[in-house]
Amino acid sequence: MATTTKETSPTPTAPAAPAGVDKGADKAVRDVPTRRISFEESLRSVPKHFAADGDLIASHLIATLSSLFPDGEDFFVRSVRHYRSQISDPELKRQVTGFIGQESVHGREHRAFNDRLAELGYPTKRYEQLVRWALTAREKVGPPQVNLAVTAALEHFTATLAELVLSDEDFRNRMGHPAVRDLFLWHALEEAEHKAVAFDVYRAIGGSERVRIWTMKVIRKAFAVVTVLMVIGSLLRDRATYRPGTLRASWRRFKQTPFLQRQLWDQLRSYDRRGFHPDDRDTTELVAQWREALFGAEGTLNDKLTSVAAAAA
Ligand SMILES: [Fe+2]
Ligand SMILES: [Fe+2]
Repeated sequence: MATTTKETSPTPTAPAAPAGVDKGADKAVRDVPTRRISFEESLRSVPKHFAADGDLIASHLIATLSSLFPDGEDFFVRSVRHYRSQISDPELKRQVTGFIGQESVHGREHRAFNDRLAELGYPTKRYEQLVRWALTAREKVGPPQVNLAVTAALEHFTATLAELVLSDEDFRNRMGHPAVRDLFLWHALEEAEHKAVAFDVYRAIGGSERVRIWTMKVIRKAFAVVTVLMVIGSLLRDRATYRPGTLRASWRRFKQTPFLQRQLWDQLRSYDRRGFHPDDRDTTELVAQWREALFGAEGTLNDKLTSVAAAAA
């Protein structure tokens, strides 16, 4: 995986109090605003193989990830909201409000993208239903604390992927169509902004390290297997997959991506360490840069915003 050393996103070197995070005596104060935004119009022009060079696997992988998000994020919201009334720290409570606001908008925008992908022949709506069914079934059998542990683990996944999107220009370019890049950039920024919220709620309610680490070990394998199977299922429905040489050329390109590099998986595994905290990896400078680039005075996504609300406790 490319690290935070590229031109657009230098490695943060000063962990003390950059924009968006104020590290107090022992408590981080994070700004987690709810940005009401709409990508719907720009997503209407997305073509079937929207990834760079019309790449087959990249298009299907991005489509599959998008189909996991809306119901996955609804599950995150329910898992965290369940404990909201038990949180006494007003700062964490304020962050929870921001987390719920951000995840709700992510779900809505990815549903719009998934609708467009379904028009193009991707099985995104069927996958959404499958995820909804699986997570609802999980909630029926598992205690709320494990749901929160699952959420914290998956938030580490999204934070790791977010850092990749924000720090690796080549990775962003591989997404191809500008509307897809914008959608994932905005989502990545907000995942980085709220990356520790579910984790801090888990700690605040007394969640154990043993359950947290054990949950991640299960989730990591399950997420990888399910995603691969879904991508294969999506590819099998696409006529382009059967065009001589197309899949092979795409696979050659895919082998160069961070998904098959050790660094990404090491970063995911760092969660298994006792005492781990999402802020161990300082992305505050990266977040500050992208806030300015996307939503600052000359922000490239300002025209898509309808409103921004600071989270209240
Ligand atoms: Fe999200
Ligand atoms: Fe998230």
